[in-house]
Amino acid sequence: MRIDKLISEAGYASRSEAAKAARKGNVTVNGETVKDLSRHIDPERDVVTFCGEEVVYQKNIYIMMNKPEGYVSSTDDKSAPIVLELLDERLQTAGLFPCGRLDKYTLGLLILTNDGAAAHKMLSPKKHVEKTYRFRLQHAISPEEVARLEAGVDIGGFVTKPCRVVMLNEVEGDITLTEGKYHQIKRMAEAVGNKIVYLERTAFAGISLDTALARGEWRYLNDEEMAIIAPYLS
Ligand code: URA
Repeated sequence: MRIDKLISEAGYASRSEAAKAARKGNVTVNGETVKDLSRHIDPERDVVTFCGEEVVYQKNIYIMMNKPEGYVSSTDDKSAPIVLELLDERLQTAGLFPCGRLDKYTLGLLILTNDGAAAHKMLSPKKHVEKTYRFRLQHAISPEEVARLEAGVDIGGFVTKPCRVVMLNEVEGDITLTEGKYHQIKRMAEAVGNKIVYLERTAFAGISLDTALARGEWRYLNDEEMAIIAPYLS
């Protein structure tokens, strides 16, 4: 693998920034300063440093973020800030993208990765991956309306699959879905004459939102969480 590719994919700098750093003598391979980053190294065996820091080779990156309000879960948007802006600058070049979307005003658990195959599997309707959301409604909901949500409602030409709803009181509850249509929960609430006023994803694919993360904070998935998503990894 080329040295500049390793540095950019590991999220330390873009290739051009790496080239600049190398010209200043800030890149080493096995203790030797290198200026030509087109050189090929073995990322499993050779030790590369960038500006004094060892470049840890990770084939793929998996991050948990506590998405704040007002950010869009896309990789490019001219009208609003994107969740990728919340990551360190060095991760901006690592090809990360959100695994699934949350609406601009939805909060909570977002997984970011650069593993396209794993994201594809986790989002595939065939895999029935569970997503749990805490919601608050504008009006009290009746047990009959909850039963309708659980059985499936028409959200405009599409009937939702059966899901689980656990109410905490007349307006707040947790809903667990195995699908992810556009604005699905908002449209489900509307289908029973109600309105979502708060929505937060608390779990995805068996991974729960780390409550130690403040809104807008992120961290790498830990070993336990990596084991949970292992079936989706290539
Ligand atoms: N359903 C919604 O309506 N919005 C989300 O962000 C996620 C699920």
